[in-house]
Amino acid sequence: MKILMVCLGNICRSPLAEGILKAKVREHGLDWQVDSAGTSSWHVGELPDPRSIATARKHGIDITDQRARQLRPEDLDEYDLILAMDRSNLHDILRLARNDEQRRKVRLIMEFADPDNAQDVPDPYWDDDGFEQVFHMLERAAEGIIAEYGAVAK
Ligand code: 4NP
Repeated sequence: MKILMVCLGNICRSPLAEGILKAKVREHGLDWQVDSAGTSSWHVGELPDPRSIATARKHGIDITDQRARQLRPEDLDEYDLILAMDRSNLHDILRLARNDEQRRKVRLIMEFADPDNAQDVPDPYWDDDGFEQVFHMLERAAEGIIAEYGAVAK
C-alpha cells in the first residue's frame, strides 16, 4: 500500500498526517509506504513548520526527516491513495488527474474518520492554536485508514 498525504505547502498538515500514519503503520507491523507533498512549490526543500514539529514531538513522533516537495503528475500513478487535507487541495489534485483510475485514488482524508460528513482539515498556518486540533483530527483519520486497509493490505 502506498499512501500520499497532500496539502498546500507540505509544511503544516500533510507532514503531520505522514508522521502520524507512519507511526501507526509501524505499530501494526504493516509494510506500507507513506509520503507527503504540497500542491504548491512555495516551501520545496524546507523542514516541516516548527509548530508541526513541536506538536508531533509532544506526541512522541519525530518528523524532522521530512522535506517539503511538490506534488507531481506521476504521483497519481505511483500511489494507491492520495489523501487531500481539504477541498481546495482535492480540487487542485484532481486537476492533475488524466483518467478515472487516477481520479478514484483521490479522497478527502477525513472521509476515513467521518465517511458521510468529511470535514476539511483546517489550515493552521495562520493560527498557532490550530496545530493540536489538526493533530487529533489526523490521528482519527489515520486510525480509520488502518481499520479499512490494515487487515487486507500489508
Ligand atoms: P499546509 O499549510 O498547506 O498545511 O502546509 C500552509 C503552509 C504554508 C502556506 C499556507 C498553508 N503559505 O501560505 O505559505
